[in-house]
Amino acid sequence: MSVPEDVELDFVPLGETGLQTSELQFGTWRFGKETEEGNVEIDQKRAHELLDTYEEAGGRFIDTADVYGGGESERWIGDWLSERDRERYTIASKIYWQIRTGDPNSRGTNRKNVRDRIDALLDRLGTDYVDVLYIHRWDDDTPTREMMKTLNGLVEDGKVHYLGASTLRPNAWKVAKANEIAHTMGWEPFTVTQPRYNLVDREVEGDYLEMTRSYGMAVCPWSPLGQGFLTGKYTRDEGLTGESRAVESSHFESTYLTEENFDVHDELDAVADEVGATPAQTALAWLMHRDGVTAPIVGARTTKQLSENLAAASIGLSAEQVARLTEAKGGPYSSL
Ligand SMILES: NC(=O)c1ccc[n+]([C@@H]2O[C@H](COP(=O)([O-])OP(=O)(O)OC[C@H]3O[C@@H](n4cnc5c(N)ncnc54)[C@H](OP(=O)(O)O)[C@@H]3O)[C@@H](O)[C@H]2O)c1
Repeated sequence: MSVPEDVELDFVPLGETGLQTSELQFGTWRFGKETEEGNVEIDQKRAHELLDTYEEAGGRFIDTADVYGGGESERWIGDWLSERDRERYTIASKIYWQIRTGDPNSRGTNRKNVRDRIDALLDRLGTDYVDVLYIHRWDDDTPTREMMKTLNGLVEDGKVHYLGASTLRPNAWKVAKANEIAHTMGWEPFTVTQPRYNLVDREVEGDYLEMTRSYGMAVCPWSPLGQGFLTGKYTRDEGLTGESRAVESSHFESTYLTEENFDVHDELDAVADEVGATPAQTALAWLMHRDGVTAPIVGARTTKQLSENLAAASIGLSAEQVARLTEAKGGPYSSL
């Protein structure tokens, strides 16, 4: 399915860095990922079709990680980029998760692990540098100073342009501590962050978003559709009514398929009807309308899903509709 002709993603500032990002970034978590039955969720052909679809809509910001698909995600992006002008694209990748069984040093943000992995990552992507390098999670076993000095070294070497912190449990003080050390030492601070944030996952609101605002950090939410929950294909009575791979996970069911979240979905359906959009487009538009959000990272398993999601960029919501959606889960959570 091709992207509607009127969809052309804009560029927006990536926080207070000098860089611009597409207003919707494209996430590649599912590239090369094996299901429990041993099937690949998105193979190389589909991965390239998805990248083509994103590019067709004007998208230029691609999010990956060195562990996605055991490295296949980066490799397939690299293959795709090799036929293009790499300079026209902004690439973010991540380092953290353990890569060698029985080797604790192959996990986290210690100096040995980070220096070892950056070159392998660049090699798979077929590039000399990544625009953003995220720490995929916070490593409480490595001193913050060691991590920031090591990451700063990658920036000085030209292998990384900007630093990002990705989070599961948003911990404002840890990022603030790291940035204060970096500022004191004249090192590169974290200027980008990637938290889980969507209409029903709102933990980031409050302290964390206040912290990102005080540092001028870009905020790029992951799982903006709650891994598919906010697309309308799950119902209160029947569960999944369309096609998905997410039902494999009991974690997904306990996180998303709750009465409270279905109440939020009812309001989402109502607003979607009013603006003539799908629930997925409306949920993405809500996130794009939130103060403090820079660019959600859109995931999709098919080009049809991706085309639908990218069209969210042209959905306008009134202040009243944004407020109704914000309050559906019991918000507002903060003044942001
Ligand atoms: N930093 C981190 O720790 C972290 C963690 C997670 C993700 N991320 C990044 O964020 C990106 C997006 O995360 P996500 O994949 O969780 O995003 P998401 O948008 O919340 O979920 C995407 C999934 O929802 C379903 N879906 C999407 N659009 C749909 C539509 N229009 N209709 C029906 N189903 C639809 C698809 O799965 P099914 O069809 O299988 O249901 C798709 O794979 C990832 O690719 C990755 O780059 C980062």
